[in-house]
Amino acid sequence: MKNIQEIRAQFPILNTMVNQKPLIYLDNAATSQKPLSVLNAIGDYYKSLNANVHRGIHTLSQEATTAMEESRKKVQHFIHAAHAHEIIFTYGTTDAINLISRGLEGVLTSNDEVIISELEHHSNIVPWQMLCEKTQSKLRYIPLLDNGTLDMEEFDKILNENTKLVAVNHVSNALGVINPIEDIINKAHQFGAWVMVDGAQSIPHLQIDVQQLNADFYVFSGHKMYGPTGTGVLYGKEEILNQLNPYRGGGEMIHTVSMEKSTYADLPFKFEAGTPHIAGNIALGNAIDFMNEVGMEFIHTHEQELLKYALDELSQIKEIEIYAKHAPRSGAISFNFNKKGVHSSDVGMILDKLGIAVRTGHHCCQPIMSRFGIPGTVRASFAVYNTTEEVDELIKGVKFAIQMLN
Ligand code: ALA
Repeated sequence: MKNIQEIRAQFPILNTMVNQKPLIYLDNAATSQKPLSVLNAIGDYYKSLNANVHRGIHTLSQEATTAMEESRKKVQHFIHAAHAHEIIFTYGTTDAINLISRGLEGVLTSNDEVIISELEHHSNIVPWQMLCEKTQSKLRYIPLLDNGTLDMEEFDKILNENTKLVAVNHVSNALGVINPIEDIINKAHQFGAWVMVDGAQSIPHLQIDVQQLNADFYVFSGHKMYGPTGTGVLYGKEEILNQLNPYRGGGEMIHTVSMEKSTYADLPFKFEAGTPHIAGNIALGNAIDFMNEVGMEFIHTHEQELLKYALDELSQIKEIEIYAKHAPRSGAISFNFNKKGVHSSDVGMILDKLGIAVRTGHHCCQPIMSRFGIPGTVRASFAVYNTTEEVDELIKGVKFAIQMLN
């Protein structure tokens, strides 16, 4: 499936009219649309397979279990993990990061340090602040340079033998910048620190090999990679996951329970208390099938062409400022109108009237906005089903908004 119209035909929502205009969906960094195979997988599960997993001897329960465990293997192969039990199903990236940060409560001490960056989503800031407050560990951060990239010289300075964990995103949701994650991992490992990569914005666009990266943790959401909301993945190296305590207790995560004490199940179940999002986890496997069928190389190349085209066209509009314009980029472009008093939401509302969906505001990244002294940006973000014609409409829409807001 290498033809964009053929790909678009898999996404019924793309035929929707918004404000009497054909929908142009450029808010993929918030959530991607879902192909028919994913939609059908959810319906089919409830129609013919609905039973709880890992709990029943009866046929349906066994089949549902097999389907979900097959999906876990698809995730494993998709990110090139060594073992299926290193794949923990979560409810999203935020849930995965909280799982790690809560799991580290018994591991970190007041001598330890955690490094994040100024380029993070709130979900990769707040859990670490909570952890460091609880454990009295020190939280440090890699500052952001004016060009939208991380200050790697400063990283070299703050990294030290007390650093226990470095938690950074692979691709920034707010600016679309690709971070030098290989370099960060190599340097952190020289000091014995673990590295958690927030892959929420990279997994839909880049080929990920967690073993080649040597990432200790790699986390992402299903809903940004053509899968259902309420699904996500925590990959962790087996020997590290085994050192973390589960923070959610309940059914399925135990080995034995007595009234005095419980012992925990092995990976991955130790971290999967309660009934999981079975339909969603199965359908996540269908999303991976879709991406494999289209091909990650094709997805990447097509999206890079769209980004380049959009960036070239937007660069010619003197009334706007593009952030991190020259940085390596994936998925998204962030910009603002230069005119004083124009808020990103003003632009977003005009684009919406034209059927164009973009995200505006701080994108859950208030520190980035503070760094640039702005309340927010307009963000256009792309998926494999977007076209150059849609970019043309965006450019027309931006020019129209400039006229309207002048
Ligand atoms: N993190 C998502 C975004 O950037 C919701 O829009």
